Amino acid sequence: MLHHSRPSNLLVYGKTGTGKTAVTRYVVNKLQRTFIQQNLRPYFAYCNARLCGTEYRTIAEIAASLGLTVPFTGLAVSEVLSRVLSYINHANANVLFVLDEIDYLVKNYSDDLLYHLTTSVDKIQSGTLSLIGISNDLQFKEDLGARVISRLSEEELVFPPYSAEELRTILEQRAELAFIPGSCTQAAINLCAALSGSEHGDARRAVDLLRVAGEAAERDNAPQVLEKHVRAALQHIDQDRITEALRTLPFHAKILLLAIINCTSTEKSMTGTVYQEYARLCNTCSIDALTTRRTSSLLSELDTLGLISTSIVNYGRYGRTKKISTQVQPQMVTEAFTGDTLITQLLHH
Ligand SMILES: Nc1ncnc2c1ncn2[C@@H]1O[C@H](COP(=O)(O)OP(=O)(O)OP(=O)(O)O)[C@@H](O)[C@H]1O
Ligand SMILES: [Mg+2]
Repeated sequence: MLHHSRPSNLLVYGKTGTGKTAVTRYVVNKLQRTFIQQNLRPYFAYCNARLCGTEYRTIAEIAASLGLTVPFTGLAVSEVLSRVLSYINHANANVLFVLDEIDYLVKNYSDDLLYHLTTSVDKIQSGTLSLIGISNDLQFKEDLGARVISRLSEEELVFPPYSAEELRTILEQRAELAFIPGSCTQAAINLCAALSGSEHGDARRAVDLLRVAGEAAERDNAPQVLEKHVRAALQHIDQDRITEALRTLPFHAKILLLAIINCTSTEKSMTGTVYQEYARLCNTCSIDALTTRRTSSLLSELDTLGLISTSIVNYGRYGRTKKISTQVQPQMVTEAFTGDTLITQLLHH
């Protein structure tokens, strides 16, 4: 860009919290400063497709970053696009457009806008337009048509999960900003980094863990954040995650989970028994039970959420059956379900 030529389009992807947004914005800001130092006018735009919401808002965002005023609604997407292209042509501008959470656009609309943006190169005589697309959906490339993918991913950059060591440096920097000097121990930071590095490598969750640990220390009136506060924070975060998962379960999945809990206490937690218990509970609150086929897909949903675990038990020539057990405290379940009136009635039963 500094040599007035067109940089390749770039597709950035990787799992959530691996620094895609932070790093891209950091690099683009640096580039922008260099432009200004050299008395060049920078044409950079950043837009988060999910926050923009529509194709129209997305293209309007590019227009706005060039200083073009477009109405909030009322124009066709193609009209705004052609205004953008003609501006680039006239101003002989080198434009770099970062489109974050680009998968949102493709899933909710189509890849048409991306197609037009990436093929615009051929329509601009002077000036250039390059795109950086960012996505945390590793499957997303499959949703893109071949015509778009080959143009958008002229270059690709994959962000791997952070290692414990990398997380440690990120956390040290944050701790310096966030805590009174000396109030956060190196041991606490190291533990946060080690736990997060081995589980997910997500910097956002690592920073969250350190924050919650700080809050735990504060509640304790402790002068320093220690390893025990990190452990307490981890448990707290895990519990919140489970409670949230329980609270938002579909109605029948809730009943099914209650049935599993009832069966586990009697040591007879085979698929058949669980289904009978589920049907009995449905009957108690006068609702129709789902078929066994439907409940078995609910079972795998509960399994994926980590609320239950299933194992296959072999009985030799008597066949095989699935043994089901809960992974959560019954008390947590009943607490999480109390907001649901029908379920509460069932619990009273
Ligand atoms: N290299 C880094 N140095 C400092 N902070 C970082 C770094 N990488 C990530 N972070 C911080 O971690 C958090 C998550 O990073 P970021 O938002 O860039 O993730 P992402 O890959 O864009 O995730 P998502 O796919 O969910 O959008 C942010 O608060 C960010 O500031
Ligand atoms: Mg991001």
